[in-house]
Amino acid sequence: MNVLLLGSGGREHALAWKLAASPMLTKLYAAPGNPGIAEQAELVTLDISNHAAVAAFCRDMKIDLVVVGPEAPLVAGIGDDLRAAGIRVFGPSKAAARLEGSKGFTKDLCARFSIPTAAYGRFDNLADARAHVEKVGAPIVIKADGLAAGKGVTVAMTLPEALDALSACFDGSFGSAGAEVVVEEFMTGEEASFFCLCDGTTALPFGTAQDHKRVGDGDVGPNTGGMGAYSPAPVMTPDIIERTMREIIEPTMRGMAELGSPFAGVLFAGLMITDRGPRLIEYNTRFGDPECQVLMMRLKDDLLVLLNAAADGQLSHMSVRWTDEAALAVVIAASGYPGTPEKGSVIRGIDAARSEGAEVFHAGTAVNAGALVANGGRVLNVSATGRTVGEAQKRAYAAVDRIDWPQGFCRRDIGWRAVEREERR
Ligand code: AMP
Ligand code: GLY
Repeated sequence: MNVLLLGSGGREHALAWKLAASPMLTKLYAAPGNPGIAEQAELVTLDISNHAAVAAFCRDMKIDLVVVGPEAPLVAGIGDDLRAAGIRVFGPSKAAARLEGSKGFTKDLCARFSIPTAAYGRFDNLADARAHVEKVGAPIVIKADGLAAGKGVTVAMTLPEALDALSACFDGSFGSAGAEVVVEEFMTGEEASFFCLCDGTTALPFGTAQDHKRVGDGDVGPNTGGMGAYSPAPVMTPDIIERTMREIIEPTMRGMAELGSPFAGVLFAGLMITDRGPRLIEYNTRFGDPECQVLMMRLKDDLLVLLNAAADGQLSHMSVRWTDEAALAVVIAASGYPGTPEKGSVIRGIDAARSEGAEVFHAGTAVNAGALVANGGRVLNVSATGRTVGEAQKRAYAAVDRIDWPQGFCRRDIGWRAVEREERR
């Protein structure tokens, strides 16, 4: 099979690495890709926002499957446009990607199909939103409705913070994404990420992980896209997984079908595991980054076979096998991140890190005059496996220490919750 992978981050490098291991693969193309992905794929220059150009490339190169990594093209409807051109796609339709593209849409779906989540209100003007927030009080959560690159959520511990966040949304800080606001009840518990491969009808559980959103050790500092992850998440016990499938995922699949927009692709549920069981924080309609990296490290089966089955509505015939080992990924970011990262500094030592038995996925790199340089916020994902999260953590950091890049930084405590649990045992 010829496959075109869309995207350029660490998530896509991990997908490319796993797809390249498939005996079914003839040729892998990636657009735009990155220097790491170039180890597995031929990089092509394509404007992903030009769906007709992507379709023309697919026809010319006889692409059998397009795998869409990031959310923006999905929300923009690339799945629909490629399928209309007769091209097979792994990824949801525009209507189904509303699960990520509109927080209000997802909250209404939850209300209609009795899916456990935080109580909420939707507002399209500041006055009504303010009145609601003043009535409910803090702590409270304020969310821009649309895609805001992970920056549209404020967990406000005080009323002034909540009111500031509302003003920022309606002032246009998040562009059109903030024209509507969702105000939510504050939930407490432990967060976990749960993934399913979906084909419109069947949702096949596809692993658990925990991310580390804050930039600093001990979960302090501003939010990021994710500074590291590990899999599996111990809080996702078989009982919690069973409840998540029954109470959250399956009603979502039925609800989306009933609304005429069946969901196919990756359904990524951000969950809060509360005293009363799992509750939905939000959906994403793609793999998490860096959660995908740790899932790919543990997946025993052929990813291409699974993605094909999802694209063809055949997932009810499939099962998934994982290694018994844990996997852990450490993100190395460029100084300045999550603000403006410094670009252009030279990175050395990737081969030395790999010789420690780790995989190094490229997330934000470029080649400049023959040297590998930083070219983004999150730059490298150093990923390792081990019998325990603690062992995977040791191996990952041993590899991190072989990377020679003074301008990069990472958290030193990725996996701490799981390691603490293991040490208590
Ligand atoms: P989201 O982008 O919706 O995943 O939100 C980003 C982060 O905000 C989540 O990972 C949670 O840590 C936090 N968060 C979002 N919604 C809530 C909520 N209703 N209660 C508590 N924390 C929340
Ligand atoms: N790591 C969180 C996300 O991909 O949304």
